Amino acid sequence: MLDNTRIKELIEIALQQLPYAYVPYSHFHVGAALLAKNGKIYTGCNIENAGYTPSNCAERTAFFKAVSEGVKEFDAICVTGGKDGVPTELTAPCGVCRQVMMEFCDPETFEIILAVSTEEYQIFRLKDLLPMGFGPKNLA
Ligand code: THU
Repeated sequence: MLDNTRIKELIEIALQQLPYAYVPYSHFHVGAALLAKNGKIYTGCNIENAGYTPSNCAERTAFFKAVSEGVKEFDAICVTGGKDGVPTELTAPCGVCRQVMMEFCDPETFEIILAVSTEEYQIFRLKDLLPMGFGPKNLA
């Protein structure tokens, strides 16, 4: 379980990513802060593309940064987002990002903080956002 200091830290770091979002098409900025089990925090923003399908969500940017550096174990992620970079309601991860989480995280324990601000947020477990998910264990 994350303590309050950690929660606020992850929210602040996710909020700090909003200006980096490359979103010329949707204008919907998303920021993420991914906490690895080794204590390191990997950041991410969404990166859109004129071809649309190559667009990458903030969550996957953070995961791919970590995995590309050899880090594959995670405790939590914070996600925040909003039109023109202003969060007004919770932004939940898309289905593709939930599946990427399923690849590297324990659905029973991995915590997903959806935040509007350091005062307004909700915490979910991966198993709540991706019930009966298909993951590496199914292929073991
Ligand atoms: N997006 C994310 O980056 N993460 C989410 O959790 C939801 C959606 C992005 C994808 C696209 O760049 C924009 O938000 C609008 O869908």
